[in-house]
Amino acid sequence: MQTIMSKIDKIRLGVVGLGRGLSSVLDIIIDEDVELVAICDKNPEMVEKARVQLKKDFGIEGLLEYLDFDEFLTADTNTVVIATDAVMHVPFVTRAMEAGKNVISEIPAVNSLEEAKALKKAVASHPDLKYMCGENDCFLGYIEAWKAMYEAGKFGDIVYAEAEYLHTTDYREYKAENYNDGHWRTYNPAIKYCTHDLGPLLYVMNDRPVSVTCMVPDVHYNPYKKDSYVENAVMLVKTAKGAVIRIWICFGAYVGYTHNYAMYGTRGMIEVDKSAERTEAHCKARFSDMPGSIHGKKIDIPITVSSFQDGKGKSHLGIDRKMMRAFFESIKNDTKPPIDVDLGIRMALAGIYAHESYLQGGAALDIPDPEDFEL
Ligand SMILES: NC(=O)c1ccc[n+]([C@@H]2O[C@H](COP(=O)([O-])OP(=O)(O)OC[C@H]3O[C@@H](n4cnc5c(N)ncnc54)[C@H](O)[C@@H]3O)[C@@H](O)[C@H]2O)c1
Repeated sequence: MQTIMSKIDKIRLGVVGLGRGLSSVLDIIIDEDVELVAICDKNPEMVEKARVQLKKDFGIEGLLEYLDFDEFLTADTNTVVIATDAVMHVPFVTRAMEAGKNVISEIPAVNSLEEAKALKKAVASHPDLKYMCGENDCFLGYIEAWKAMYEAGKFGDIVYAEAEYLHTTDYREYKAENYNDGHWRTYNPAIKYCTHDLGPLLYVMNDRPVSVTCMVPDVHYNPYKKDSYVENAVMLVKTAKGAVIRIWICFGAYVGYTHNYAMYGTRGMIEVDKSAERTEAHCKARFSDMPGSIHGKKIDIPITVSSFQDGKGKSHLGIDRKMMRAFFESIKNDTKPPIDVDLGIRMALAGIYAHESYLQGGAALDIPDPEDFEL
């Protein structure tokens, strides 16, 4: 049976949430098979800013503009980007799919188990539409390479993996009025923002989390935070394949900005070189099928965050363009999006249950899996 999807040859795009939402599409609206049709933000200043930027940098004028999301859904688009506040994506995704749109949603995909079930149901109810979780770090050059190496058996079974998101955040930029308005970055617990780190590891390992425990340091860094804001956390995740993954999300220490990843398996190991700049860091590895690599210097693998691109992407070192193109190809070819609803839910639910574990004094909690949801 031919589906509606296989007939789409032009992505008629709408974007809601014009902060990250706009930046995530700037590298793909240059493509011939993409037409930006409509933009939406409840904040008129964001719409105005987007209009000015699109005209100045791309000569784009006359877009449909909306302050109201439901009106935005009436525009003649076939695909929408949901980039509203990190704590509210699912209500927008479900309404967009009801309106017949393919959806790429920002991270985290969900913020509760109830939302996870609602998202899974919405996607299952629309088999003719595509949903992808917009976890762009799965498109880092070295993550793509690690996935290919993992699938070729270079690491054997993964015993342990780790990743960390280090991002010194100065909360003075969130002024009192923003606190009062409740900007999500001032209250959403750090560990719920774990998808950039856990997501790529689950993607590489083709694995899923089954249980989690989490601890939070008592030392605080941000004097400007709300008292209830949990700015740092470490979680340990046990996976279905039996590996342990450690994730450290740090928005409250003097650490600069980076993401680091490492994996250790029965046949090999690989790490991003932490001593190099993020943009230039290579991977360092040992492989059991390379005699001599167990001792001494690790093998230098010159793959960086920016590897494997067509050179047309700038946002987030080009990975946003790769992510968007991957989603559009899945729409045009009627194939499974690389970061599908189950993977999107898994990488978010682990953080949700980790925060709950912290609240329960570090208790180990089982994490429900979307494949087991009764819809
Ligand atoms: N993948 C990445 O690299 C990356 C980077 C930054 C942010 N993000 C994600 O992108 C999302 C947005 O982040 P941000 O930093 O732009 O946040 P933000 O809070 O600055 O922007 C959210 C925007 O959504 C708009 N909005 C909220 N409710 C709306 C509604 N009902 N109708 C229309 N517009 C509405 C707001 O006015 C605001 O402009 C978050 O989910 C965040 O996690 C991802």
